[in-house]
Amino acid sequence: MTKYIVEGGRPLFGEIHISGAKNAAVAIIPAALMVNGPCRIENMPRISDVSLLLGILQDLGARVRYVNPHTVEIDSSSLRNGRVPYESARRCRASYYMLGALLGRFGAADVALPGGCDFGSTRPIDQHLKGFRALGAQVDTQSGFVMAEAAGGRLKGANIFLDKSSVGATINIMLSAAMAEGMTVIENAAKEPHIVDVANFLNSMGANIMGAGTDVIKVRGVSILRGGSYSIIPDQIEAGTYMAAVAACGGEVKLCNIIPKHMDCISAKLCEMGVEIHEVDDSLLVSRIGPLVRANIKTMPYPGFPTDMQPQIAAALCLAQGTSIITDSVWNTRFRYTDEFKRMGAQIQVDGNLAIIEGVERLTGAQLEACDLRAGAAMLIAALAAHGISQITNVQYIERGYEDVIGKIRGVGGRIRAVEITEEEELAVGSAG
Ligand code: EPU
Repeated sequence: MTKYIVEGGRPLFGEIHISGAKNAAVAIIPAALMVNGPCRIENMPRISDVSLLLGILQDLGARVRYVNPHTVEIDSSSLRNGRVPYESARRCRASYYMLGALLGRFGAADVALPGGCDFGSTRPIDQHLKGFRALGAQVDTQSGFVMAEAAGGRLKGANIFLDKSSVGATINIMLSAAMAEGMTVIENAAKEPHIVDVANFLNSMGANIMGAGTDVIKVRGVSILRGGSYSIIPDQIEAGTYMAAVAACGGEVKLCNIIPKHMDCISAKLCEMGVEIHEVDDSLLVSRIGPLVRANIKTMPYPGFPTDMQPQIAAALCLAQGTSIITDSVWNTRFRYTDEFKRMGAQIQVDGNLAIIEGVERLTGAQLEACDLRAGAAMLIAALAAHGISQITNVQYIERGYEDVIGKIRGVGGRIRAVEITEEEELAVGSAG
């Protein structure tokens, strides 16, 4: 186990190269299970969620080979069927995509219910299961496993109206429908950029999916998917996280390898807060010289402000002039991190899915414990902006979704290092949880 030591209070200057999108990668890897032939996936982020999922694929019998540090070749031709055990599934929420992928390809799947980031509330998958059932699968949940089997061995296309525009349900149903018989229509589908990316990946392997990125997705099932090459889109949330870091710390950073359009929902808010953003081809120049000013934020499904940026923007708002109100309308208990911010001197009150932040002049370094991936990223931002030294434990959460976070922060002048924690410290962290 490691912890991060951060010496904060200095502006950030330089360039950061943004990696491939985590939430696209964690769906595209399971999608590769459906492909009968080698697929080469480029711009794969080097994060622990990706390693876990690639490990599950190997356990199922797929051949996985890194061609270079960000290009992986997956060959699932020899896979026959699959059971994903609890030990593998519990460590990564996206393992639930194995359900749609295995069900689509083999007409049967047996996957342990996932773990992943816990926001203090349960994360239901009822819409995923509703979709599989509509496609003709018999679905049972027993002893922590979801067992799904298509009547007659192959799913049949259907019309599915999602009660909630869920990212996971949209992708899972799209995966299973890609190899179903006939046409599937998903209405009230989620529209996040990574949904389009998964659809593009499947289409490049021979699927026939139309409308991804709108709220109606049409999938004409095909009987086989063949190998090919694909490059994952840049990570909107990783880029947004570094933008929030510049907002909080000040300075000027160029973010390279991004799709500026995907950043609009985040850029608009940061501009309102006094951050300057200039688009140059596939990069953004982000700077903050003057004071930060308050803003109200309400998280919404894409193209609204993403819930996955809520804690990071809160870190910046702690240092903004005036009172800001954050409403999380996607995850209503995603404010656990605010207790850690308070220990740094932040003024925050939480009431249900609302956080009211009274900006303060400065935060001071403290001992912090990451409680989920984006909360961990937010603590990192707060620590970089704070005066004095902070220590962040439970950084394995951060490493689930941020590639080379230490190298990237150091590259723009942030003072951060990782150190091994002692056995006593490890016990203290464990008992605190
Ligand atoms: N929901 C249901 N039933 C379902 C599924 C979802 O009621 O069957 C509800 C949830 O309770 C939530 C809302 O719908 O209130 C949205 O959930 P969604 O299904 O869209 O979330 P998810 O697929 O579980 C993905 C990302 C999350 C991100 C959310 C929202 C992955 C692996 N995870 O989760 O990312 O917060 O979409 O955008 O793609 C992260 O990256 O830090 C992260 C947590």
